[in-house]
Amino acid sequence: MSIDCELLSLLRANPRITVLTGSGVSAESGIPTFRDAQTGLWEKFSPEELATPAAFLANPSLVWRWYAWRREIIAKAQPNPAHFTLARMQARIPGFTLLTQNVDGLHQRAGSVDVVEYHGNIMRSRCSRPGCLPDAPCGEGEPPPCPACQAPLRPAVVWFGESIPAYAHLKATEASEDCDLFIAIGTSAMVYPAAGLAELAKSRGARFLEVNLDKTPLSRLADFRLQGPAARMLPELEQALWPSVETP
Ligand code: OAD
Repeated sequence: MSIDCELLSLLRANPRITVLTGSGVSAESGIPTFRDAQTGLWEKFSPEELATPAAFLANPSLVWRWYAWRREIIAKAQPNPAHFTLARMQARIPGFTLLTQNVDGLHQRAGSVDVVEYHGNIMRSRCSRPGCLPDAPCGEGEPPPCPACQAPLRPAVVWFGESIPAYAHLKATEASEDCDLFIAIGTSAMVYPAAGLAELAKSRGARFLEVNLDKTPLSRLADFRLQGPAARMLPELEQALWPSVETP
């Protein structure tokens, strides 16, 4: 792969970098991307039928079982070279912020710190009753009852139609407004407000790099594109930047 010299010069000039990842980053860890996660038993459901407050209200057991299935896949998965490369980049580059739409926690397991979890984390649960336990221990049941009030627990993720957690939204907005380079990796950019962060960064003068297997609605804004699997593209970018880095 040949990497644009202008991109390498920019990366060598100590830019403030904000990275937004989507489920394509975890694809090579064996975790189906969000829009591919309706396979097998789940193929007859769309994400909108499973990841909404209305779906949970109508059929909490069905929604809980879909998340339990995804949790099992995630628990067995390992971070891949894309996650590890981002963790090493963060350690080398001051002013590097990692925002993720992924709920799988693989960035943290690869060593990334201060990850802004824009859509929550699937491994945690919370009470479905607003204002009750924000991080509830999970017992038996589909779904288990909240230990404090007996209302059903739910996964601590953001569903369609719900607000982004205030702290994550604030951090993501600040980091997008204040960066020199915004990088979107493995996201279809179909879901707002996350998809709007690249547009925000561009409107404030940042350059924009997209890393994806395919084109997305954001591609037209991209100053640079690396088209291919993130687990190959990111280590190649790292090698071009710092040829002496040993990648495992
Ligand atoms: P999607 O499933 O919508 O998109 C995955 C993107 O990753 C696509 O653009 C693929 O082309 C790309 N892709 C797949 N494999 C890749 C690879 N190996 N390397 C690089 N790119 C690859 O997933 P997201 O964009 O993450 O939100 O979805 C965003 C949000 O939509 C999710 O967080 C979820 C959903 O609504 C909520 O649940 C609130």
